[in-house]
Amino acid sequence: MSDIPTTNKKLINWVDEIVALCKPAKVHWCDGTKAEADKLFAEMVASGMAIKLNEQKRPGSYLFRSDPRDVARVEKRTLICSKDKENAGPTNNWEDPVVMKEKMRALYNGCMEGRTMYIIPFAMGPLGSPIAKYGVEITDSPYVVVSMRIMARVSTEVLRHIEKEDFFVPCLHSVGQPLKAGAKDVRWPCNPENTYIVHFPEESTIWSFGSGYGGNALLGKKCFALRIASNLARKEGWLAEHMLILGVKTPAGKKHYVTAAFPSACGKTNFAMLIPPKALRDKGWEISCVGDDIAWIKPDKTGQLRAINPENGFFGVAPGTSEKTNPNALHSCDSDTIFTNVALTDDGDIWWEGMTKEPPKHLIDWQGNDWTPDMIDEKTGKPKLSSHPNSRFAAPARNCRCIDANWESPEGVPVDIFIYGGRRMNDIPLVYQAHNWSHGVYIGATVGSEQTAAAEGQVGALRRDPFAMLPFCGYHMGDYIKHYLDMAKIAKTPAVFHVNWFRKTPDGKFMWPGFGDNARVLAWMIGRIEGTAPAKDSPLGYIPAYEDIDFTGLDFSKADFDAVMAIDPAKVSAQADANTDYLTNTIGRLSPEMVAVSEDIKARCK
Ligand code: OXD
Ligand code: MN
Repeated sequence: MSDIPTTNKKLINWVDEIVALCKPAKVHWCDGTKAEADKLFAEMVASGMAIKLNEQKRPGSYLFRSDPRDVARVEKRTLICSKDKENAGPTNNWEDPVVMKEKMRALYNGCMEGRTMYIIPFAMGPLGSPIAKYGVEITDSPYVVVSMRIMARVSTEVLRHIEKEDFFVPCLHSVGQPLKAGAKDVRWPCNPENTYIVHFPEESTIWSFGSGYGGNALLGKKCFALRIASNLARKEGWLAEHMLILGVKTPAGKKHYVTAAFPSACGKTNFAMLIPPKALRDKGWEISCVGDDIAWIKPDKTGQLRAINPENGFFGVAPGTSEKTNPNALHSCDSDTIFTNVALTDDGDIWWEGMTKEPPKHLIDWQGNDWTPDMIDEKTGKPKLSSHPNSRFAAPARNCRCIDANWESPEGVPVDIFIYGGRRMNDIPLVYQAHNWSHGVYIGATVGSEQTAAAEGQVGALRRDPFAMLPFCGYHMGDYIKHYLDMAKIAKTPAVFHVNWFRKTPDGKFMWPGFGDNARVLAWMIGRIEGTAPAKDSPLGYIPAYEDIDFTGLDFSKADFDAVMAIDPAKVSAQADANTDYLTNTIGRLSPEMVAVSEDIKARCK
């Protein structure tokens, strides 16, 4: 008993129950210290699971190569097991919690045999923050332990908060591959046939089995901070969102905070850390990053929305990250970073597609094989990739050069702007602003994006992704829309904008330069809330004129602007019909406000 570092009965009983079920060889309570992580890394290097990178080039950093069957979130096997099927809604997989527990108990039975069970107390958000929450992850994966230490706040101090609140989110994880006596371990144990990522919203509990990949295994992130937290937020009157948070300092020195929701693989990390073009920097515009993936947003006593980033690190898609596209993300990985499924250079560093213009002459690819730039992938007939398209870095947020001074502020940062967007090649203009909150909610509810590698589905197809929460909303999406609308009763609602950085010309070229130049659009938005930037009305909402956006230093003509902002009323009207159809027939539990917005848009198109 004496080596159990907590007095919390619920936690002690839960650990006892899981030890009896999973039957680990050893139990270790994690303290989140560097010494603990160093020891685990050394053990993983010795077993062949991890590769220590060149200490001069990439201090404190390691490379992992997963099983090729375990490289992404598994949405088909992600379930919301609410008691009533209806409450999981049409966008989630569901199973009866009693049935699912029985099925998973059979899988968990003896699943940690021969392995160490790690107990990880973690905080989502700054410790002691009124917006933060606490969890405990039990896992048999040392990779999860060292990754959680980057992505969440792991410490014994967390236990004191759990004792005080007598509440924590129990998160159970196993790679699902017991190690029989005398058997040699594999490099990346997992159990793809039996992978399940299960949420019990009424109990605020998570059970994950069979996968070691980030989104399925680092349970503080998508599972807790979005699926379980969205349920808690609904009950408690706040929002748990798949949103980045950034700070904008104006030339007058005023600081504003903005949150933005884009579906996976739409450049959230790039937008969160963007560097404004020189012409804007010279005028005094500055951008800082609070978070790149998740925002917990709560009204304070005055009704002002305040946001925290519940995470402690960035779990970013590596390919495409470069000195040109996102130097701030690239340099966040300079040290103390865990890389998964990227390529290894001959001098013990890492590389991925897009990192440099010229690839190295030789690499070891993400599966551990020799790689040279001339190699062709037999399956696709295209150049062979050295890194998996969904390969990742887990880098400490404190490494980020543009991290906001208030990123760990316990009371959160005040938010006045919500942005939604997606990857849309046709028809959707660069930017427009909602007329009012219902319209803003409608914009969030009708987000869609064209598919890429990070999520499942056919590449290029439009995937509806309300609020960019489709795989992350822990309850009925129709109720989610209603909860958003209800926020107006308890909070000062923010201005809402929709952006599309991805519109293309008929011959397939991007119309808008994107990246740092997105700051020009942000500057217009800030002008809108400060009351200094004009706008015209349009069928979709308020839009800027060419003169309203600062194009200093960019060769972007009025004709270019007209093309990227073009709105075709016939198409907009048809989209409004499609939106009503989607919200009515696919989502259901429809709030009448949503139909009213569709009707208003159609009337404006006439
Ligand atoms: C992520 C995702 O990994 O959204 O952040 O898929
Ligand atoms: Mn995400």
